[in-house]
Amino acid sequence: MIIAVDGPAASGKGTLASGLARHYDLPHLDTGLLYRAVGLAVEGREGAPDFEDAAIAAARALDAAQLTDLDRLTAAQTGVLASKVAVIAQVRAALYDFQRDFALRPGGAVLDGRDIGTRICPDADVKLFIQADSKARMERRARQLEARGVEVDRYALYHQIEERDARDMLNPHGGFYKADDAHLLDTTLLGIEAALRAAIEIVDRTMALKAGGPQPS
Ligand code: CDP
Ligand code: CDP
Repeated sequence: MIIAVDGPAASGKGTLASGLARHYDLPHLDTGLLYRAVGLAVEGREGAPDFEDAAIAAARALDAAQLTDLDRLTAAQTGVLASKVAVIAQVRAALYDFQRDFALRPGGAVLDGRDIGTRICPDADVKLFIQADSKARMERRARQLEARGVEVDRYALYHQIEERDARDMLNPHGGFYKADDAHLLDTTLLGIEAALRAAIEIVDRTMALKAGGPQPS
């Protein structure tokens, strides 16, 4: 079973994807980490004439070992860098195989990102598109960073997320939209447990429907 989870920054897709992976005993890939790792590899070179080439080379050379420094990878500024390398078509192409291979593991997988249901796994068994209003998303990200001891300027964070959302929405190579067959889940008013329960219900219902059996009530 392949589950695709997409949605904008801090919508809760990663938390939901890891909860689904635990529930169904599947491996989970946070694909944002790949773009973040490429962003970190070219940190400080923004505006340089070889920025694109450096990002493409970094994406082609990406190694799983670069996905472990979560403190640096998940920093808000790294997210902005990630969105800058994510608009380069060859970077996206270089990261495609890693994601696709992960998805095609025997037994299945859960992947979360922006283009899982549209580009990476258009054939996923279940697709979820997670939404939450931008103020709620900013507050969630702020608390997540504060819990790690990072001092947060909410005004700057809000603008950072807006800037990233805007770049993502305009990304011509993105596919950052809800797939026609994705289920929309708005988590603005849902806590983590309630959102996970809602997602499990959607997955079970969709799988039962596919199997042609009775739908769980
Ligand atoms: O967790 P959050 O939503 O804040 O960010 P992320 O999922 O780690 O993604 C960081 C950035 O990487 C996004 O803003 C996108 O620009 C890019 N990205 C992408 O282009 N395609 C994906 N499948 C995942 C992330
Ligand atoms: O992966 P994405 O950037 O979409 O978001 P996340 O990292 O899963 O969630 C961002 C923060 O919001 C985390 O600290 C979650 O615990 C929190 N969260 C929440 O408060 N309520 C939810 N329904 C989902 C996530």
